[in-house]
Amino acid sequence: MKQQLAKLVGVVTLLALLALLELATTASVKLTTDDLNSEASLWGLYQQWLCALGEGLMANSEYEYVKREFEFDRCLPPSNWIVVRIDGCHFHRFSKIHAFEKPNDENALRLMNACATAVLEKFPDIVFAYGVSDEYSFIFREETEFYHRRESKILSLCVSYFTSVYVMKWKDFFPNKELKEPPYFDGRAVCYPNLKTIRDYLAWRQVDCHINNQYNTCFWMLVKSGKSEQEAQLALKGTFAKDKNELLAQQFQINYDDEPAMFRKGSSVYREKVETTVKIDDFGDPIKRPRLKVTVAHVDIIGPEFWENHQHILREGKFLHWFVKKFGINHILSPCNWIVVRINACQFDQFSTIHSFDKPNDETALSLMNESASLMMEQYPDIVFAYGFSNEYSFVFHEKSELYQRQESLILSSCSSYFTSLYITKWKEFFPHKELMQTPRFETEALCYPKLKIVCEYLSWRQAECHAGNQYNTCFWMLVKSGKSEKEAHEILKGTLSKDKNELLFQQFQMNYNNEPAMFRKGSCIYRQKVEELAGAEDGDNDTTRERWHVKVDHVDLGPGFWRKHPWIMTNCTQ
Ligand code: GTP
Ligand code: MG
Repeated sequence: MKQQLAKLVGVVTLLALLALLELATTASVKLTTDDLNSEASLWGLYQQWLCALGEGLMANSEYEYVKREFEFDRCLPPSNWIVVRIDGCHFHRFSKIHAFEKPNDENALRLMNACATAVLEKFPDIVFAYGVSDEYSFIFREETEFYHRRESKILSLCVSYFTSVYVMKWKDFFPNKELKEPPYFDGRAVCYPNLKTIRDYLAWRQVDCHINNQYNTCFWMLVKSGKSEQEAQLALKGTFAKDKNELLAQQFQINYDDEPAMFRKGSSVYREKVETTVKIDDFGDPIKRPRLKVTVAHVDIIGPEFWENHQHILREGKFLHWFVKKFGINHILSPCNWIVVRINACQFDQFSTIHSFDKPNDETALSLMNESASLMMEQYPDIVFAYGFSNEYSFVFHEKSELYQRQESLILSSCSSYFTSLYITKWKEFFPHKELMQTPRFETEALCYPKLKIVCEYLSWRQAECHAGNQYNTCFWMLVKSGKSEKEAHEILKGTLSKDKNELLFQQFQMNYNNEPAMFRKGSCIYRQKVEELAGAEDGDNDTTRERWHVKVDHVDLGPGFWRKHPWIMTNCTQ
């Protein structure tokens, strides 16, 4: 039997190794001798092989794209300690309906500790846990490759396993209390880059434990002695730690330091070497060996002593060179979403003052923006539409765009950089007599919209902003030019509606706002339009015309009428 088992293990190991080597040669995973020397790496590779196998099995299905294109797991950055902190949901109520003792219910806390112990026993990558009240923090070792550091996996498994043990063990800690409603916990995962920050994190939690417990001990002693909850609160308002200790000592003859350590210090859970009986020898004597056992202690973890005596717990990980690659993880913009890249000039007020732009609108400056945007469309064929006013421009990328495999940082940075570069290089053409005195800077963001309808609404929203801003500025500068101070002009316009402003312009300045240049009122939209041109001259054929896509700048309303009239724009049929 034993021999058969050994054979089976041998065959499985061989198959796994062959599969790993196959993966190393065929997939993008490169196997080096260093990798092979590292247990963590081998485990990582084994997991990648399992993923590849899973993907391989799915690859034949036409539906497989729903996973490949839509499911993106956030991986927590490598070489960081990971803390998963879970917290009981509505435990105020839960503790009430289960009549937990106040302020601390020993059984409830011991149940929490038992759950944390079970979690550490289940997940060897958790090196330490610290709990207080209805919360527990679990620390994963720095170099963990648990589920490839996928946040959702790590978080959900911790919370779900903890909850499950809580329910299963309830009867052990409360044999005479029925579990009246299902307990549940929320959780978050946070990364800490080094030993100092992880130690400070734990210290923060323990200081919190101390402050809360001292307060609660005083509070409930006062209440139990006959004070109302409000009176107890008032008595404690503004008190320091030493005042509370004195209150306990003088009014209740309690030395706070004699209170149970579990209440004062919280609970630390970790692996400790303990002498364990491994078997009984022929004379009936126990044979003991040191074994790592999950232990619960209620000790100070703020000072250095505990950590000096337990250096194995937060041992810093070996830095493996293949970690480095994992830092550059790029955020991918959701597939089949329209991408809007919005560029906005920084500190444009200052920039326009320095370059004495006309107020409220400088036609040349706007034309330079439009020219830069048009050239952007020449450079990026995936941009199907652009809309701009004042110092901003929005570029709509077709939903199917695969520019930079939709990596957000690359799309953002290249757009921002190219636009800036165009703006500067074209400056001389538009302002031949003005030197560029300050380098313009454009901040850029990327937005994703799943439906075309929403993109159109986005554009209408930007156009509404253009209208509101321009109408206000037109009035404001007319008032200033007519002799009002800027403050007076602001006061006059405060709270006015659109029609009030139109009236003001008409009555005070005989100006019909609707006769102002369309570029100022409606902003600028840019799209491709088919034009026919004679092909004769070059081809030697005088009779034929040739179609060409021409980038057109327009200043019109972006309502449904516009989209009906230009149905080709968003379908990108120029491709
Ligand atoms: P959320 O976490 O936001 O869902 O609310 P919560 O009601 O769980 O409150 P929070 O996590 O801020 O605080 C934990 C609450 O659990 C405390 O306010 C107490 O009411 C209760 N609690 C935790 N441990 C004990 C205990 O040992 N005894 C008693 N009586 N109550 C406890
Ligand atoms: Mg809670």
